[in-house]
Amino acid sequence: MISLIVPTYNERQNIAALVERAGKALALTSQPFELIIVDDASPDGTAEDVRRLAAERPWLKLLVREGERDLSTAVMAGWREARGDVLGCMDGDLQQPPELLPQLYARLESSGADIAVGSRNVRGGGVSHWSLLRRFISWTATLMATFILPGTLGEVRDPMSGYFLLRRRVIDGAALNPVGYKILLEVLARGDYRRVDEVPFIFDERALGESKLGGGIMLKYLAHLVRISIETREAVRIVKYAAVGLTGAFVYYVALLWLYATRHWPLPAAALVGVALAIFNNFVWNEVVTFPEARRLDPSTRALFRRMLAFAGFSAAGAVLSLALIAVLVGALEWPTTPGVLAGILAAGLWNFTTNSNLTWRAWWNRKILSRAAQPGGADFNPALAAHDLPPGKRLVLCNLCGSQRFAVLYRGRSTRAPDLDPNSMRCTSLEHGGFTNIVQCSDCGLIYQNPCDDDETLAKLYAGVDDPVYERESGGRVRTFGRLVERLGRYAQPGRLVDVGCYTGIFLEQARRAGWDVVGVEPSAWAAKLAREKGFTVFEGAFRDAHELPAPFDAVTIWDVIEHLPDPLADLKHAHSILKPGAVLALSTMDTASLFARLAGRHWPWYMRMHLVYFTRESMRRMLEAAGFEVLAIERHERIVSLR
Ligand code: GDD
Ligand code: MN
Repeated sequence: MISLIVPTYNERQNIAALVERAGKALALTSQPFELIIVDDASPDGTAEDVRRLAAERPWLKLLVREGERDLSTAVMAGWREARGDVLGCMDGDLQQPPELLPQLYARLESSGADIAVGSRNVRGGGVSHWSLLRRFISWTATLMATFILPGTLGEVRDPMSGYFLLRRRVIDGAALNPVGYKILLEVLARGDYRRVDEVPFIFDERALGESKLGGGIMLKYLAHLVRISIETREAVRIVKYAAVGLTGAFVYYVALLWLYATRHWPLPAAALVGVALAIFNNFVWNEVVTFPEARRLDPSTRALFRRMLAFAGFSAAGAVLSLALIAVLVGALEWPTTPGVLAGILAAGLWNFTTNSNLTWRAWWNRKILSRAAQPGGADFNPALAAHDLPPGKRLVLCNLCGSQRFAVLYRGRSTRAPDLDPNSMRCTSLEHGGFTNIVQCSDCGLIYQNPCDDDETLAKLYAGVDDPVYERESGGRVRTFGRLVERLGRYAQPGRLVDVGCYTGIFLEQARRAGWDVVGVEPSAWAAKLAREKGFTVFEGAFRDAHELPAPFDAVTIWDVIEHLPDPLADLKHAHSILKPGAVLALSTMDTASLFARLAGRHWPWYMRMHLVYFTRESMRRMLEAAGFEVLAIERHERIVSLR
């Protein structure tokens, strides 16, 4: 359902036509809709008119507020009453054509945008009869906003628009600031969204009634921008950038003094070298401290050089600009030296920050770049994720739980490197941690997995070749761990026939047999399977789903610390379900990505590693088990006994 809010104050002359046109336009979307007029007790009787119109229009609603008069809070009050999953707002004076609504809605529906903005500043959009001065003021205001808040507004050309639709979840958890004067700014600063689309329209002259927005607006607006900048912590970038600038000034000053006074270089040469050193100094600090995202997104050397060149270019231009300005101010206009030089430095600083934060390091704020980098389709940007650039033996995968291909990157792994085909890196006792590609989270169901990961062939080869002498040496602790697991399994099932998936050297099989189970194992490693067979067990060598000769049906399937290694765990769980007797039990263990340790350790959590392909939480484990046809009886903590010898 679409819920469109129209705030009104003294719009009696416009409201009937607006309701008529908006109603027609919304009907064209063939969605259920409601139009909520939020009127701040207009003295001209707007509310009475709306009430009359609503009598024969079930989709028209009226909200009258007494004692309040504010455009933004009116819109928010409307959203609170709204029932739609698509929310929007539009002015009540017909300066924005309601006929654009179906197009705005189409952007949400078909192109996957989270916010669709009616925009004056994209091709095809504009303002009707504005004077040059009015255009200039509007343009400056927008530019200023983009400058102060590149992270928030960087890619929206008309952030001042009061005409837009959005998905409800964008603002669901957001604490919108009720006194913010421009509601879209608030949404962009605090909402949760990936993509904003703009649809052009011509902002018409007001035909009837008068504008409510008077003096002081510009100042309030600036205050609003500064406030958002601080609250979204974008201001921190400006402070960091300025601090780096100071170190650069220091480098320049020291170099100049030393070369000129001590080494007796000619002044221009000393100054030139000083500037070069300062630019280099600033580049390094900004790259590392101010805008670290750019390098994380594209760690290639080529991109580094591109950024360095851009930075040097903009900064050199800034230096020339400031010198020219100082020459004009002090030389031609005869300003005193200190304010003249300060003005020059300030202008250069503004120029440098704007160009470099918006062009050189634009990756840090540009949601399109960020989300494109996170999409498999974003081949043109992120080399680590580009299909044609996938390292041999790696493949991009879909979410194993819901099949979606949309994901967000939680932890970007090391950049592409030659594939490691040494099977011993897959040893159970392998300490090769952190060697993951990217740890990502499904945007649709939240499952966490590694992407890209080793393809099936590589995995099969690697696991088949594993041998692991340390494992046998450490077996003391494992015997006790598995002994307890057999005990716990006994609480849910009577001993019967059991298959242990990934039985490795058969330590669990031994414990289970001792407790009366009739056991077989499945194990891909030839070395481990052989050891298990030597202990007298039947072991099928290879992948679980290829083990067709298993003596099904079973009373229990166990999968200990193996599920996270499987490329298609859902299919394996379904397979497990199919070989179990009705009412029989599946028992498995895996690590918990939502554990306190995992959350504290972040990307350094030791279990984020190459051989772990899927990372479960209690939640996602439960959902996958249910998707495979199981009913979850219990989720318990699992302790491993590790010997420290
Ligand atoms: N409920 C309520 N309370 N509505 C109000 C109030 C108020 O205090 N003040 C204004 N409105 C309503 C008006 O009735 C109109 O429907 C809409 O808000 C826009 O007000 P205008 O007075 O027409 O403002 P504007 O045309 O100068 O500015 C508009 O243009 C911007 C684009 O530049 C604003 O609507 C912005 O939202 C829009 O982005
Ligand atoms: Mn208006």
